Amino acid sequence: MNTKYQSQAAIDIQHLPYRSMPQGNMPAMGMGTFGSDHVTHEQMAEAVLEAADIGYRHFDCAEVYANEDLIGQSFEELMRNGVKREALWINSKVWNDHHKPADVLEACQRSIENLCCDYIDLYLVHWPFRNFHPPHCSVESRSPDSHPYDHREMMETWEAMEALLEKGLVRNIGTSNMTIPKMDLLLRDASVKPAANEMELHPHFQQPELFEYCRQKGIEVLGYCPLGSPGRPERDRTPQDSVDIEDPVMVEIAKAHAVHPAAICLKWAVQRGHTPIPMSVNPRNYRANLDAVTTDPLTEDEMTAISRIDKACRLIKGQVFLWEDAAGWEDLWDLNGTITTSS
Ligand SMILES: NC(=O)c1ccc[n+]([C@@H]2O[C@H](COP(=O)([O-])OP(=O)(O)OC[C@H]3O[C@@H](n4cnc5c(N)ncnc54)[C@H](OP(=O)(O)O)[C@@H]3O)[C@@H](O)[C@H]2O)c1
Repeated sequence: MNTKYQSQAAIDIQHLPYRSMPQGNMPAMGMGTFGSDHVTHEQMAEAVLEAADIGYRHFDCAEVYANEDLIGQSFEELMRNGVKREALWINSKVWNDHHKPADVLEACQRSIENLCCDYIDLYLVHWPFRNFHPPHCSVESRSPDSHPYDHREMMETWEAMEALLEKGLVRNIGTSNMTIPKMDLLLRDASVKPAANEMELHPHFQQPELFEYCRQKGIEVLGYCPLGSPGRPERDRTPQDSVDIEDPVMVEIAKAHAVHPAAICLKWAVQRGHTPIPMSVNPRNYRANLDAVTTDPLTEDEMTAISRIDKACRLIKGQVFLWEDAAGWEDLWDLNGTITTSS
């Protein structure tokens, strides 16, 4: 690397574990890149560049975040300055309105082009539904085309994902926002099982059953909203939501380690065995986040104390993907263990 990318302040990431994937090793923490309403695409792309400067190598992108072109410029600059493509781990995701086979291929090619990355390390089906909603629509709105999970449609999309592997466009394929019964069907019918599942995970939403299920099936787990998404927009908040980083257990453990509770969320995630993808555009915060997972691990007692504060508090409920006669967001998550086919 040239001098700009050999920052004196780079964090030594030799203590950051890797997750072994069918093709390659994924760094056990990445940076999220969804800026939502309050972070501009330019800010996010700048944060990616500077985060790579201090040692981040894993970035969680998606076409629907609408910033892949600018993040691609950051990757291009990094590679121009000596960072090898193989040293980066880049995720992207196919959005709900591109699930038909030809669209999956086109979306993937577009992401590769925008991200300037030749291939994608981990390509995910962002949601297991074709249900689509326009950006910034109200959480109460229902699209007339939306319908409950359709396994035939999911398999058509998954076969298109498998074809991307054969074409060499992607190194690993996976899912996001799945449930156990949906995963059971996918594992029954897929030729290539998902290498990873990306799901909401933070101390107040530990999803122990799905987490253990994935581990038993050899599916790596990536955890989104790992800090409890403190910056999410108002429309994604409900009065019942709890705040992980204000939990007294988290605050006490943070005091013992002389760090912010956000750091404890991330240490817990990596030590538990999943891969958190915190988003930050604040250099102090993203530095602290990488530092947290490379130094000063939690004790067994601290891990146990955190395992006891799960509140089953789902923050990303997905209401905008509901169909017209759906009873509520719970219909998306198969809470009684069977796939909700109608309301
Ligand atoms: N697959 C999916 O369906 C899905 C859904 C949601 C999210 N995701 C992915 O997951 C990523 C993370 O989710 P998220 O952004 O919603 O939630 P998050 O990472 O839990 O929280 C991000 C927020 O935490 C703040 N923060 C970061 N580090 C901090 C620190 N050390 N101390 C205090 N505050 C800190 C950030 O503000 P600053 O910028 O000021 O630091 C930002 O507002 C997304 O960017 C996206 O890549 C995937």
